[in-house]
Amino acid sequence: MASPPIDIRNAPPVLPDEVFIPKEYLSDIDHILVRQRCFNERIHVMAEEISRDFEHGNGLAVVVLKGGKYFSDHVLTHRMMNAKFEYRTVRATSYHGTESSGNVALESDISEDGVKNKHVLLFEDIIDTGRTLDAITQHLLQMNPASVGIAAMLDKPERRTVAGIDSFIKYCGWIIPNKFVVGCGLDFDGKYRDLQHIAVLKPEVYHGK
Ligand code: XMP
Ligand code: MG
Repeated sequence: MASPPIDIRNAPPVLPDEVFIPKEYLSDIDHILVRQRCFNERIHVMAEEISRDFEHGNGLAVVVLKGGKYFSDHVLTHRMMNAKFEYRTVRATSYHGTESSGNVALESDISEDGVKNKHVLLFEDIIDTGRTLDAITQHLLQMNPASVGIAAMLDKPERRTVAGIDSFIKYCGWIIPNKFVVGCGLDFDGKYRDLQHIAVLKPEVYHGK
Protein backbone atom coordinates (compact mmCIF):
# COMPACT_ATOMS: atom_id res chain seq x y z
CA MET A 1 0.00 0.00 0.00
CA ALA A 2 1.29 3.44 -0.93
CA SER A 3 1.10 6.24 1.62
CA PRO A 4 -1.81 8.65 1.13
CA PRO A 5 -1.09 12.05 -0.43
CA ILE A 6 -0.33 14.93 1.91
CA ASP A 7 -3.36 17.20 1.99
CA ILE A 8 -2.11 20.79 2.09
CA ARG A 9 -5.38 22.50 1.14
CA ASN A 10 -5.57 24.19 4.54
CA ALA A 11 -1.87 24.48 5.33
CA PRO A 12 -0.59 27.93 6.29
CA PRO A 13 1.20 29.47 3.30
CA VAL A 14 4.99 29.71 3.29
CA LEU A 15 6.06 33.24 2.36
CA PRO A 16 8.54 33.74 -0.48
CA ASP A 17 11.15 35.25 1.84
CA GLU A 18 11.22 32.08 3.99
CA VAL A 19 12.91 30.06 1.22
CA PHE A 20 15.48 30.68 -1.48
CA ILE A 21 13.90 31.80 -4.77
CA PRO A 22 15.99 32.97 -7.74
CA LYS A 23 15.69 36.75 -8.00
CA GLU A 24 14.23 36.52 -11.54
CA TYR A 25 11.16 34.77 -10.06
CA LEU A 26 10.88 36.37 -6.63
CA SER A 27 8.50 39.24 -7.47
CA ASP A 28 6.11 36.87 -9.35
CA ILE A 29 5.53 34.45 -6.47
CA ASP A 30 2.61 35.00 -4.09
CA HIS A 31 3.37 32.09 -1.75
CA ILE A 32 4.93 28.64 -1.58
CA LEU A 33 2.82 25.50 -1.20
CA VAL A 34 5.60 22.89 -1.10
CA ARG A 35 9.13 23.95 -0.25
CA GLN A 36 12.12 22.08 -1.66
CA ARG A 37 12.92 20.27 1.59
CA CYS A 38 9.36 18.91 1.87
CA PHE A 39 9.40 18.00 -1.83
CA ASN A 40 12.57 15.96 -1.32
CA GLU A 41 11.22 14.20 1.78
CA ARG A 42 8.04 13.16 0.02
CA ILE A 43 9.91 12.06 -3.14
CA HIS A 44 12.11 9.87 -0.94
CA VAL A 45 9.03 8.07 0.42
CA MET A 46 7.39 7.77 -3.01
CA ALA A 47 10.61 6.42 -4.57
CA GLU A 48 10.84 3.76 -1.83
CA GLU A 49 7.22 2.72 -2.36
CA ILE A 50 7.43 2.61 -6.15
CA SER A 51 10.75 0.76 -5.95
CA ARG A 52 9.25 -1.87 -3.65
CA ASP A 53 6.12 -2.31 -5.79
CA PHE A 54 8.00 -2.60 -9.11
CA GLU A 55 10.96 -4.70 -8.00
CA HIS A 56 9.37 -7.70 -9.74
CA GLY A 57 10.41 -6.04 -13.04
CA ASN A 58 8.40 -5.58 -16.22
CA GLY A 59 7.73 -1.93 -15.36
CA LEU A 60 7.21 0.67 -18.05
CA ALA A 61 7.39 4.33 -17.03
CA VAL A 62 5.32 6.56 -19.30
CA VAL A 63 6.13 10.19 -18.61
CA VAL A 64 3.62 12.87 -19.52
CA LEU A 65 5.65 15.68 -21.07
CA LYS A 66 6.71 18.21 -20.32
CA GLY A 67 5.52 18.72 -16.76
CA GLY A 68 5.83 15.11 -15.54
CA LYS A 69 9.52 14.89 -16.36
CA TYR A 70 10.83 16.79 -13.32
CA PHE A 71 8.82 14.52 -11.02
CA SER A 72 9.70 11.27 -12.83
CA ASP A 73 13.40 12.21 -13.00
CA HIS A 74 13.46 12.74 -9.24
CA VAL A 75 11.67 9.44 -8.53
CA LEU A 76 13.33 7.20 -11.11
CA THR A 77 16.89 8.34 -10.38
CA HIS A 78 16.43 8.52 -6.60
CA ARG A 79 18.98 6.63 -4.53
CA MET A 80 16.15 4.57 -3.00
CA MET A 81 15.00 3.41 -6.44
CA ASN A 82 16.04 -0.18 -7.11
CA ALA A 83 13.39 -1.09 -9.69
CA LYS A 84 14.30 -0.81 -13.36
CA PHE A 85 11.82 0.68 -15.78
CA GLU A 86 11.60 0.87 -19.52
CA TYR A 87 10.91 4.48 -20.44
CA ARG A 88 8.52 6.13 -22.87
CA THR A 89 7.00 9.58 -23.16
CA VAL A 90 3.68 11.00 -24.20
CA ARG A 91 2.81 14.60 -24.93
CA ALA A 92 -0.76 15.69 -24.40
CA THR A 93 -1.92 19.04 -25.63
CA SER A 94 -5.10 20.35 -24.09
CA TYR A 95 -4.01 23.22 -21.98
CA HIS A 96 -3.34 26.85 -22.81
CA GLY A 97 -2.47 29.46 -20.23
CA THR A 98 -4.30 28.73 -16.98
CA GLU A 99 -7.56 27.23 -18.31
CA SER A 100 -8.03 23.68 -19.56
CA SER A 101 -9.61 23.35 -22.99
CA GLY A 102 -11.81 20.39 -23.87
CA ASN A 103 -9.93 18.11 -26.24
CA VAL A 104 -6.76 16.14 -25.65
CA ALA A 105 -4.42 15.29 -28.54
CA LEU A 106 -1.70 12.68 -27.89
CA GLU A 107 1.73 12.40 -29.44
CA SER A 108 3.95 9.57 -28.16
CA ASP A 109 6.72 7.06 -28.77
CA ILE A 110 4.57 4.25 -27.35
CA SER A 111 3.85 1.16 -29.45
CA GLU A 112 1.55 -1.74 -28.75
CA ASP A 113 4.53 -4.14 -28.60
CA GLY A 114 6.20 -1.94 -26.00
CA VAL A 115 3.14 -1.87 -23.74
CA LYS A 116 1.79 -5.41 -24.02
CA ASN A 117 2.12 -7.33 -20.71
CA LYS A 118 3.97 -4.44 -19.06
CA HIS A 119 3.09 -2.90 -15.71
CA VAL A 120 2.67 0.68 -16.87
CA LEU A 121 3.20 3.57 -14.47
CA LEU A 122 2.19 6.98 -15.79
CA PHE A 123 4.07 9.97 -14.35
CA GLU A 124 2.12 13.23 -14.38
CA ASP A 125 2.77 16.61 -12.78
CA ILE A 126 -0.79 17.45 -11.77
CA ILE A 127 -4.28 16.02 -12.09
CA ASP A 128 -6.76 18.77 -12.71
CA THR A 129 -9.99 17.90 -14.57
CA GLY A 130 -8.60 14.41 -15.23
CA ARG A 131 -9.13 14.66 -19.00
CA THR A 132 -5.45 14.30 -19.92
CA LEU A 133 -4.89 11.15 -17.88
CA ASP A 134 -8.23 9.73 -18.94
CA ALA A 135 -7.24 10.05 -22.62
CA ILE A 136 -3.78 8.54 -21.98
CA THR A 137 -5.10 5.72 -19.79
CA GLN A 138 -7.76 4.75 -22.35
CA HIS A 139 -5.12 4.80 -25.09
CA LEU A 140 -2.79 2.51 -23.09
CA LEU A 141 -5.52 0.09 -22.04
CA GLN A 142 -6.16 -0.74 -25.69
CA MET A 143 -2.57 -2.07 -25.91
CA ASN A 144 -3.08 -4.93 -23.41
CA PRO A 145 -0.76 -3.88 -20.58
CA ALA A 146 -0.51 -6.14 -17.50
CA SER A 147 -1.64 -3.13 -15.45
CA VAL A 148 -1.90 0.67 -15.62
CA GLY A 149 -1.34 2.95 -12.64
CA ILE A 150 -0.79 6.67 -12.17
CA ALA A 151 1.90 8.41 -10.13
CA ALA A 152 0.92 12.07 -9.80
CA MET A 153 2.98 14.73 -8.12
CA LEU A 154 -0.10 16.85 -7.31
CA ASP A 155 -3.86 16.48 -7.31
CA LYS A 156 -6.50 19.23 -7.42
CA PRO A 157 -9.60 17.06 -6.76
CA GLU A 158 -11.98 20.03 -6.65
CA ARG A 159 -11.47 20.48 -10.39
CA ARG A 160 -12.24 16.87 -11.38
CA THR A 161 -14.74 16.32 -14.19
CA VAL A 162 -13.59 12.79 -15.17
CA ALA A 163 -14.02 10.79 -11.95
CA GLY A 164 -13.21 7.45 -13.61
CA ILE A 165 -9.54 8.31 -13.48
CA ASP A 166 -9.34 8.23 -9.68
CA SER A 167 -9.20 4.44 -9.38
CA PHE A 168 -5.95 4.43 -11.40
CA ILE A 169 -4.11 6.80 -9.03
CA LYS A 170 -1.66 4.59 -7.13
CA TYR A 171 0.79 7.23 -5.88
CA CYS A 172 0.19 10.90 -5.27
CA GLY A 173 2.41 13.47 -3.59
CA TRP A 174 0.10 16.22 -2.40
CA ILE A 175 -3.50 17.34 -2.58
CA ILE A 176 -3.49 21.06 -3.25
CA PRO A 177 -6.11 23.84 -3.27
CA ASN A 178 -7.73 24.95 -6.51
CA LYS A 179 -5.00 27.41 -7.43
CA PHE A 180 -2.76 27.67 -10.48
CA VAL A 181 0.69 26.47 -9.42
CA VAL A 182 4.18 26.52 -10.92
CA GLY A 183 7.55 24.99 -10.14
CA CYS A 184 8.95 21.43 -9.93
CA GLY A 185 8.20 20.94 -13.62
CA LEU A 186 5.04 23.06 -13.80
CA ASP A 187 5.24 26.13 -15.99
CA PHE A 188 3.35 29.21 -16.92
CA ASP A 189 4.01 29.90 -20.60
CA GLY A 190 7.36 28.11 -20.42
CA LYS A 191 8.60 29.79 -17.24
CA TYR A 192 9.19 28.56 -13.67
CA ARG A 193 9.62 24.82 -14.46
CA ASP A 194 13.03 24.94 -12.80
CA LEU A 195 11.79 26.57 -9.59
CA GLN A 196 12.62 24.06 -6.84
CA HIS A 197 9.44 24.69 -4.84
CA ILE A 198 5.78 24.42 -5.79
CA ALA A 199 4.40 27.93 -5.73
CA VAL A 200 1.31 30.02 -6.40
CA LEU A 201 1.86 32.93 -8.78
CA LYS A 202 0.55 36.41 -8.13
CA PRO A 203 -2.64 36.80 -10.19
CA GLU A 204 -1.24 39.86 -11.99
CA VAL A 205 1.43 37.62 -13.56
CA TYR A 206 -1.10 35.70 -15.65
CA HIS A 207 -3.82 38.35 -15.89
CA GLY A 208 -4.64 39.24 -19.46
CA LYS A 209 -3.03 36.05 -20.83
P1 XMP B 1 -6.36 17.94 -16.82
O1 XMP B 1 -7.42 18.99 -16.68
O2 XMP B 1 -6.41 17.25 -18.13
O3 XMP B 1 -5.07 18.80 -16.81
O4 XMP B 1 -6.32 16.99 -15.64
C1 XMP B 1 -3.85 18.32 -16.53
C2 XMP B 1 -2.82 19.20 -17.13
O5 XMP B 1 -3.15 20.59 -16.98
C3 XMP B 1 -2.04 21.34 -16.62
N1 XMP B 1 -2.30 22.01 -15.34
C4 XMP B 1 -1.49 22.89 -14.74
N2 XMP B 1 -0.29 23.37 -15.11
N3 XMP B 1 -0.23 24.66 -13.13
C5 XMP B 1 0.34 24.26 -14.29
O6 XMP B 1 1.45 24.67 -14.60
C6 XMP B 1 -1.43 24.23 -12.70
O7 XMP B 1 -1.90 24.63 -11.64
C7 XMP B 1 -2.10 23.29 -13.55
N4 XMP B 1 -3.28 22.64 -13.46
C8 XMP B 1 -3.36 21.88 -14.57
C9 XMP B 1 -0.90 20.37 -16.53
O8 XMP B 1 -0.18 20.45 -17.74
C10 XMP B 1 -1.52 19.02 -16.41
O9 XMP B 1 -0.75 18.03 -17.05
MG1 MG C 1 1.03 18.22 -17.91
